[in-house]
Amino acid sequence: MRRISLTINGQNHSFVMSKDRVLLDLLREDLGLTGTKQACDRKGQCGACTVIVNQRAVHSCLTKVASLDGAQVITVEGMGTPENPHLIQEAYALSGAIQCGFCTPGMIMATKALLDGNTNPTVEEIKKALRHNLCRCTGYKKIVEAIQLAARFIRGEVTPDRVRPKSTDGLIGVSHPRPSALAKACGTAHFTADYKLEGALELAVFRSPVPHARITNIDTSYAEKMTGVAGVLKATDVKGTNVLKFGPPDRPVICGDKVYCIGDPVLALAAESKAQAEAALKTVRVDFEPLPVVESPEASLADGTVQIHPNLPNLCVDQPVIRGAAEEALTNSAAVVEARFTTQRVYMSPLEAEATIAYWEEEDEGEDALLVIVGRSINIHQHLGMLQEALGWENMKYVEAYTGGQFGIKLDIMSEGIAGAAAIHFKRPIRYVPSLAESMLMTSKRHPFDMKVRLGADAQGILTAYCNDMLVDKGAYRSADIFPRSLMTLSGSYNIPNLNARLRLAYTNNPFGSTARGAGQPQVSFALECAMDMLADKLGIDPFEFRLRNSLKPGQAKCTGWVVEEWPFPEVMKAIHPHYERALKEAAAHRTGRVRRGVGLGAGAHGVGRTGEGAAVAVELDPDGGITVYAAAADPGEGTDSMLAQISASVMNLPLKKVRLCTRETDLTTATGPAAGSRLTYMVGGALINALDQLKEAMRATGATNSEGLSAAGKPKRYIGSKKNEDAGPMDPKTGQGTSFVSDIHGVQMVELDVDTESGDVTVLKVTAAVDAGTVINPQNLTGQLEGGMDMGVGYALREEYAVGETYDWVTYKFPTIRDSFEMETLLVETRRSKGPLGATGVGEMCLVPTAPAVINAIKNATGAWICDLPATPDKIKAALAALKA
Ligand code: FES
Ligand code: FES
Repeated sequence: MRRISLTINGQNHSFVMSKDRVLLDLLREDLGLTGTKQACDRKGQCGACTVIVNQRAVHSCLTKVASLDGAQVITVEGMGTPENPHLIQEAYALSGAIQCGFCTPGMIMATKALLDGNTNPTVEEIKKALRHNLCRCTGYKKIVEAIQLAARFIRGEVTPDRVRPKSTDGLIGVSHPRPSALAKACGTAHFTADYKLEGALELAVFRSPVPHARITNIDTSYAEKMTGVAGVLKATDVKGTNVLKFGPPDRPVICGDKVYCIGDPVLALAAESKAQAEAALKTVRVDFEPLPVVESPEASLADGTVQIHPNLPNLCVDQPVIRGAAEEALTNSAAVVEARFTTQRVYMSPLEAEATIAYWEEEDEGEDALLVIVGRSINIHQHLGMLQEALGWENMKYVEAYTGGQFGIKLDIMSEGIAGAAAIHFKRPIRYVPSLAESMLMTSKRHPFDMKVRLGADAQGILTAYCNDMLVDKGAYRSADIFPRSLMTLSGSYNIPNLNARLRLAYTNNPFGSTARGAGQPQVSFALECAMDMLADKLGIDPFEFRLRNSLKPGQAKCTGWVVEEWPFPEVMKAIHPHYERALKEAAAHRTGRVRRGVGLGAGAHGVGRTGEGAAVAVELDPDGGITVYAAAADPGEGTDSMLAQISASVMNLPLKKVRLCTRETDLTTATGPAAGSRLTYMVGGALINALDQLKEAMRATGATNSEGLSAAGKPKRYIGSKKNEDAGPMDPKTGQGTSFVSDIHGVQMVELDVDTESGDVTVLKVTAAVDAGTVINPQNLTGQLEGGMDMGVGYALREEYAVGETYDWVTYKFPTIRDSFEMETLLVETRRSKGPLGATGVGEMCLVPTAPAVINAIKNATGAWICDLPATPDKIKAALAALKA
């Protein structure tokens, strides 16, 4: 042990500590300074734990307290508070550089270290200073802008008051900082692992090392005798169905007799400390009897293959989409292209681990006690119901903590089931904070697709027919289905009169696929948009002109036969056209030599929400004339809180500070569906306006200006609004016809890149995105979504791939860093949506749909080589170039 004296945020402290204790633990566990985060397994890979020690930015996860005698430490809490923020914290909030906010404290500390030594850094110097800080949400553009703004504040060139939107600027179409921004910037926003949970047991979970096997024996006898161990939780200890039932009942909370994929939970060990639980876990012995492993969907559907789930066929879905006579139309086409496109399995990479805490509100109430689950769900009411059934406990509530990104994977329950079951079994509060490696192992992934396509056009370059035969690896569990979106968006932005497609989804023993930003559309868009360029090439038509010529028009039908009323794709194309002309001219000067420049386009129309769904929102007039919005509209970083506040303030003519949001607890909110499918603005915003209209009418009829006035007039102060999609109607099982999304977001992206033809390295120079998402409520939030999506889309196109067993941290998973970031430009077209709230719709997923094909089309444009198998790694590019020469 060592005695250490140091200063933390200006306060003197003395500690006696073991020589191995790291600063991160001292700050978070001993001092409760949870603004400092952890987003990797203490490997110096994420930067979320950055603090300042003696004027230098350091990783607190790697800094031993024993080395800090006499040091001066500053954490994000020492910078400022939401009421009195530091200029850097203000700059982050005002620049829209904060989405989920999990990276933000680390970013802010790295920024402080930079600006303390250099108040006018170049972009290169900013990128160098923040090269160890990861952000998954923003694409880094607004972070660079925030640092530049902070530098201007510090240099005294401008003040936050001059930058901050004023009350006279209006409420819609204005970038008011999101309500949660300063709490995230100052480290006071609590993420799940930040909760102090007195008397909690910590969990460590034994996860299967094999993909398909029977569990023949579990020996925990040694572990149970170890110091601090409270006991073991097995499948037989789970009181309910032990099934997390999203669709078919295929996914256990804890596996009982067999495991279905690597990483399946077999048991949990509970101990007084995490270290004790992990030490005990190492002594557990589980014996498996191997079963045949189904490694691919082809193998899954082959004759004689083992059935993975009893009572469920390996073929989960076999759905065609048939419109017109595609084969005949292809035969009669002037030009047809044929290709096979494959996509990879992707981990969606939120920075926060899959943490849950579970506790009893009153410990002594026995079977009636209220079990509280605090976690990272984006659909708390649905997940509450699933947990009640799976765990056999009725009196339960779910609280959504602040969430460090999600991008689709938080539509599934991950750590909540095990944590809740352990709380019931041990009758103790439970903390389950898995490592990054374990989080990667347990979470759902983006599905790999294998697509064989044919696309035809007539001599005038008008599309005639499209065929796409899709085989999709579902992995071990069914979970949320993305196949309807894949099928409903098959024709993209275009009018394709004849279509013949089939999608087969098959169980395998691979990691399970579920929703992932774009939910099945990025894969089909990759195939269609690359085929569009192939066909344009064959016809000798410019790819821009070919897309515009084939745009769907109001009155024409999408692939499902659904006739559209509005289709502003040509306007989006027009917006990007001058940029396209400029890019082609610039690229023309780089067509020879080792490094070649290319320009590529990708387009798409992303449907909002789910067909036939609804949303509900409650609003209540407050005593001071303000309002409170009650709806379980999750905000894992997209800006839902801004949308709810700005719409409410605008409709009610209130200042933003008089709009209060209650969105995170099941017992206080209406169920209003998931934060998925870009649906919250359109659906929940629509239900909000409906509720506000009812409240306004009651206020008008009574003359009341506050809740007391309404009560005195005999009127309720609370009103529930709803919105229902009118596009109900199932997809016809034989033809796939009959349904669609009621609102679409339209976009086109243009990628400019350089390809090193010797090394195969690709440098993305710029991505330009033109998007029409209807009325813009908060431009900064919208462009922030687009920029984050472009960054993620480029990662999908070039480097990201999850391989079980090989991918376990931020080095083995090729996460885009600020060093990889590129120039981005967003062009907003605003075509008011007739059924959208104030004319708006949502954009969170569209932003990544066109990116991968735009990258691949640009590589082809630069080199002549087609990469039809994502990601386009240097090796694949080199092989494709060698094949061209052969
Ligand atoms: S937790 Fe310290 S660098 Fe990731
Ligand atoms: S805002 Fe950076 S990780 Fe979410």
